[in-house]
Amino acid sequence: MTDTKKIRVAFVGTGGIANAHAEALQQQPGIELTVAIDLDATRAQEFADKWGVTRTAASLAAAVDGGGLDLVAICTPPSSHFPLALEALSYGLHAVIEKPPALSLSQMRELEKAEAASTGTLSCVFQHRFGSGAQRLLELQASGALGKPLVGTCNTLWFRDQPYFDVPWRGLWDVEGGGPTMGHGIHQFDLLLHLWGPWAEVTAFAGKLARRTDTEDASAAVVRFESGAIATVINSVISPRETSYTRLDFENATVELEHLYGYSDNNWTLTPAPGREDVVELWNHGEDFPSGHAAQYRALIRSIQHGTHPPVSITDAYATMELAAAIYASSVSGTTIARGQINETNPFFTRMDGHLEPWKQEEALNA
Ligand SMILES: NC(=O)c1ccc[n+]([C@@H]2O[C@H](COP(=O)([O-])OP(=O)(O)OC[C@H]3O[C@@H](n4cnc5c(N)ncnc54)[C@H](O)[C@@H]3O)[C@@H](O)[C@H]2O)c1
Repeated sequence: MTDTKKIRVAFVGTGGIANAHAEALQQQPGIELTVAIDLDATRAQEFADKWGVTRTAASLAAAVDGGGLDLVAICTPPSSHFPLALEALSYGLHAVIEKPPALSLSQMRELEKAEAASTGTLSCVFQHRFGSGAQRLLELQASGALGKPLVGTCNTLWFRDQPYFDVPWRGLWDVEGGGPTMGHGIHQFDLLLHLWGPWAEVTAFAGKLARRTDTEDASAAVVRFESGAIATVINSVISPRETSYTRLDFENATVELEHLYGYSDNNWTLTPAPGREDVVELWNHGEDFPSGHAAQYRALIRSIQHGTHPPVSITDAYATMELAAAIYASSVSGTTIARGQINETNPFFTRMDGHLEPWKQEEALNA
């Protein structure tokens, strides 16, 4: 694809998050918002009117029939991500998939295979990788100025009341694939893994503590990285004072990020170790662009225009999904889970709850 040809975009699902996609895409050059697709025709039309989308359709198949498309933004509830991504690939389209990209590790592997057989590509929305703060930290780490990563904290402490879970697709293993581990904290620990590299093993607890839902409403994990660093990861939707807080202690500095749903440079702080004040000078220089869909689309559109694979590929996202699966497996089995242990023969490979619906049974026992 050349720089001059417009990228024609379809949105599948025109609810809450589709608005963030449309707003982000409007900021990119060379984009045409072509089709709005939703099972609810009125919602699709309202979305099309709001964002200047050319037409509406009832399905991706109908949208493809109606004319040329290049990119599909999959903004539907989680259980439809996998079939829609396969469908987009079957038409040779590029697709960007909202989180979580699939419901299981087996679906992730199937998406990798389908992508290899298609001219289209898949990329997963993990927008916190793309803010300038994260990109600058990666560079600073790589320069060696921070020294070794040692100890981390990665907290997603959010609050969702009971009516949030009463929406039909929420809190169901079959539809959402999990609770706050899969649906909320995944953004923060994806960033942690992006920064600190491969994880080695995890021990975790999860439970349903305060909400009527089939999945967990909180989980807490201790993760050891291949580098030897260790970190705690807490994923909660029952925490009244909400925050997304990541703290990374390196040999030469503590780096902290505190925000809620997105960050700018001023959400980051760096505290040098005694005698290493020189590190402060190396931090916080350059353009401030916030994390968010616009930052990810900027990189994605550039990749499509230059014929390279858009970030974040299914393979890039696999370690993040694998950590989610391992948090569930460790919680349910009461054992430590190593990376790679959840293979084709493991029940947690095909469903995040290992087909056990663990906390649902607990509820029945306690009834
Ligand atoms: N990246 C983020 O920060 C972020 C934030 C919020 C939500 N999300 C994710 O975005 C996705 C959508 O969440 P939402 O809050 O926008 O949901 P929503 O319920 O507001 O909207 C979903 C829309 O999809 C439509 N839909 C459902 N199945 C469809 C299908 N097969 N074909 C066409 N349309 C279909 C529904 O009618 C609805 O309009 C979820 O996966 C969620 O986890 C991501």
